[in-house]
Amino acid sequence: MNIVTDLRITTSVKTNASLYKQVEDAFHLLNKNKYIQNISIIKRKKLTIKQIFKSNDSPVIVFENTGPKLYFTSEIPIYFHLDTAKVKLNMVKNQKQPILSEMINHITSKETSFNFVDGTMGFGRDSYLVLKQFPNANVFSIEQHPLIHFVISEGMKLQLNNNELKRIHFINEDYNNWIKLNEEKVDILYLDHMFEKTLIESDRMGELSNNILKIQEYKPIKHYNYLILKARFDSLLFKELNVMQCLRKSSKTHYGLRVNNSKQAL
Ligand SMILES: C[S@@+](CC[C@H](N)C(=O)[O-])C[C@H]1O[C@@H](n2cnc3c(N)ncnc32)[C@H](O)[C@@H]1O
Repeated sequence: MNIVTDLRITTSVKTNASLYKQVEDAFHLLNKNKYIQNISIIKRKKLTIKQIFKSNDSPVIVFENTGPKLYFTSEIPIYFHLDTAKVKLNMVKNQKQPILSEMINHITSKETSFNFVDGTMGFGRDSYLVLKQFPNANVFSIEQHPLIHFVISEGMKLQLNNNELKRIHFINEDYNNWIKLNEEKVDILYLDHMFEKTLIESDRMGELSNNILKIQEYKPIKHYNYLILKARFDSLLFKELNVMQCLRKSSKTHYGLRVNNSKQAL
């Protein structure tokens, strides 16, 4: 599990009472988080992010009207952004299905409701897509990094209606532990681990990749009815998790499916 030793929180330069309140609330909430050891509120004044990092390089969460942004460095913030989820939801409007949705449709066609456990929430775009596209889904979004969990879940909540808020559960845990304790909830387990060969270092995914724990060894997983894996075409994970890889000639990103025959299917 990622441990954060020092965390600083503040508001945007242009601030207001609501942002101050969010900083105070976050201070009390994050203070209770066992994975964060020391947290302080800093006065933003007119300081730029670069200046905030000059004397101290511990991570900073900045509260803005559009949601919290997490800076591990002064360069690229991590926050909830619709980006690819919006593109995929537009595809759906135009009668085209993203691959993940196609797979879920196939698995759940006869179900009135189902649980989708996103074991690797990250930026939360896949959880958001499933929540929006499948009104009969309960989504469990698990992220082990405490700061990523915080900024993405708080940012996403601002984009959800009451019904969606009731159907999503944000969990700060290692999914391996959570699914063992909540086996009965895991209809579909979805995993999108960081690509082993990471992408462009200078983008948001590169920034995320630089700051999370890299997996040393994959633990065998058996607590699910269906496992959907998203990974780079040459990932060893397809083999290690014994997932059938669906080949796509036009993309480096591949998906795989495994049905757990030892458990009753949906
Ligand atoms: C590639 S990102 C996922 C991107 C995501 N699918 C999206 O739509 O934005 C992978 C995330 O999984 C998290 N992660 C990796 N191993 C985990 C574990 N065992 N339990 C929970 N989260 C994990 C990482 O911290 C990282 O934030």
